[in-house]
Amino acid sequence: TTTPPRVSTGELPRSEEVQELVTEAYQRYRGTKEGHVADYIPVLAAASPALFGICVVGARGRSFEIGDVDVGFSIQSVSKPFVFALVADAVGSDTARRRLGVNSTGFPFNSLMAIELNDHRTMNPLVNAGAIATTSLVPGTTADEKFEQIRKGLSRFAGRDLRVNEEVYASESSSNMRNQGIAHLLNSYGSLYFDPDEATDVYTRQCSLEVTVHDLAVMAATLANGGVNPQTQERVVVRGVCRRVLAVMATAGLYELSGDWLYEIGVPGKSGVSGGIVTVSPGKGGLATFSPPLDPAGNSVRGQLVTKFLSERLGLNLF
Ligand code: DON
Repeated sequence: TTTPPRVSTGELPRSEEVQELVTEAYQRYRGTKEGHVADYIPVLAAASPALFGICVVGARGRSFEIGDVDVGFSIQSVSKPFVFALVADAVGSDTARRRLGVNSTGFPFNSLMAIELNDHRTMNPLVNAGAIATTSLVPGTTADEKFEQIRKGLSRFAGRDLRVNEEVYASESSSNMRNQGIAHLLNSYGSLYFDPDEATDVYTRQCSLEVTVHDLAVMAATLANGGVNPQTQERVVVRGVCRRVLAVMATAGLYELSGDWLYEIGVPGKSGVSGGIVTVSPGKGGLATFSPPLDPAGNSVRGQLVTKFLSERLGLNLF
């Protein structure tokens, strides 16, 4: 862009300007054709590549949106930081860190193994192994109790009652052998805190919860607002948990591209394979995008372009 990035004032710009920029971002990137819809979960392959929505919710609850903002899609990996928040809130941030880890690779600075194994192990709650372990730590003695905790907790973040998309759940359940393998491997090392098959099933239900881009922006705005949903005024998690969730999102929210993301965009984020991305600018607000075509790392192509543009023009960057 030729306009220089906005220097942050600690606030979002005035309402008219935010809506204009959200509209401009939509018009700029609507025609983008790059990327491919995820197909490793059969039902996701049927998503229309044309779907596109953007929503910004300010830390005091103002909302600005355009495009397919009412279309439901499965939350997928975007659920992970929010479930981690619920677990850290329930067991305490220190216990959560000790049991789940909060590092991006977990190898020492001079490790050769890191080069070989970086893709094969997990050290934090936002990659599948750590996320399944996080789900296994959710309070509750049965799978149904744990899932209900997750569903209710994520609904409080969104300010609305969220439900599972049964078609996605069935499709993903028929193709989640890798996640079952991860859960059994973790269990063999004593690093899972519930039955491996049941933990994987609860995790799969969690990923199948249906949201809109508006819901995701409210969820992000709750993290931007210190853990209080700015539209319902309900406190969802304590402030100290909120700040640590954002730290983990900055470290690992976009997997192996988290460093590039922080370098370019400068805001904690989380992506999911159904095409959602959330970003959180503390004290300012949450931004969510939905567009199914993904790049080879599994991140929405239009979502990344919109987030970069709006981060610069709204002054979201932390640095
Ligand atoms: O476990 C899985 O593979 C999916 N339920 C979620 C993966 C996901 O969203 C990763 N995102 N980039």
